[in-house]
Amino acid sequence: MKKLPLKVEKRLQLRKQENSLRSLGICSDMVDLSSNDYLGFSSSLAIFRQAERILQDKDVLKNGATGSRLLTGNHKLYGFAEEYLSDFHNADAALIFNSGYDANLGFFGSVPQKGDVILYDELSHASIRDGISLSKAQAYKFRHNDLQDLEEKILRLRKNEETEVYVVTEAVFSMDGDIPDLRALMELSKRLNFLLVIDEAHSTGVIGTRGKGPLQELGLEKEVFARILTFGKALGAHGAAILGSKELEQYLINFSRSFIYTTALPPHSVATIIAAYQHLNSEGAEKVEALSKNIGLFNSQVVKLGLENKFIKSTSAVHSCIIPGNEAVKKVAAKLQKQGFDVKPILSPTVPEGKERLRFCLHSYNTPQEVQSALSLLADLI
Ligand SMILES: Cc1ncc(COP(=O)(O)O)c(C=O)c1O
Repeated sequence: MKKLPLKVEKRLQLRKQENSLRSLGICSDMVDLSSNDYLGFSSSLAIFRQAERILQDKDVLKNGATGSRLLTGNHKLYGFAEEYLSDFHNADAALIFNSGYDANLGFFGSVPQKGDVILYDELSHASIRDGISLSKAQAYKFRHNDLQDLEEKILRLRKNEETEVYVVTEAVFSMDGDIPDLRALMELSKRLNFLLVIDEAHSTGVIGTRGKGPLQELGLEKEVFARILTFGKALGAHGAAILGSKELEQYLINFSRSFIYTTALPPHSVATIIAAYQHLNSEGAEKVEALSKNIGLFNSQVVKLGLENKFIKSTSAVHSCIIPGNEAVKKVAAKLQKQGFDVKPILSPTVPEGKERLRFCLHSYNTPQEVQSALSLLADLI
């Protein structure tokens, strides 16, 4: 095999020196405090069997999609799934993408135009930032959840009435687990006339009635320009959707490159999305309630053990305990793992230097004993 070019090799060496080299591990049978499978749907036999039934009932017995959705890949489960999503999430239209990464690339790479301005929260997910890097619009970050900073930047950066301003944030932040003030953000969007885009990757299935997400809980879903949902987290499946107007859907079908130039999801993936949503509709309330109880228990234990100063405040399923330094956070994670708790260290440069952390993800299926034992052990370790 050919050797790596020198500049590439150097980047790898730097990772090693900074103690942040990544490698692939094998899934463990430890107590799950790290997966995005918030409701346990990924291993639900009921969803698995229902997906099978859907494929049979709809007579879509194929292994692959055979092409892009614009060519031969738009099998009939897509229409069924998108209608279900529009109904469940009270949207005019839903368009399924192959992943959340693709959805963010496809939206930001095609919708904001040259001369427009995009403002994104400084802690926005990499897929949002990568999507923005494909856009010809000018992009600027605003301080995390800081609406005053956002307002000042909009007033300074909007050149004239033709400048469209897009603001993007997350309904639950993937690393900090906190939630922006969506009502205030919506009021600001009306006052300053900007288009709001909300990534709901970590809020769908977690927050609100049957996990419909905080926007629907607040009755604000029709007022945002676009919502990005992903199905690889609480839905336990794969794929994503952009929710918005019928015109936005039509535009994306015509211009979004990550939608057009890729093979569509195979029928069984789309059947799994439908089955997972049906399950959320019928059994979701109970699971979301169980998750919510665990979040409450986790937070009360954090206070009881005097760990509040270490954790970023969160009422979602994601809880981060800041342990600065890659070496230090890896050590604590290894000790927790040794005792059977699968908690992942998040290293810089994934998060800023000094903000390295243990990221706890809570689930409907974690037992109170698991939550309590993991936190007691953490308290002893730090
Ligand atoms: C906020 C956010 N948006 C988008 C994505 C990408 O979603 P997917 O895993 O479906 O590509 C993620 C995944 O981690 C995420 O956390």
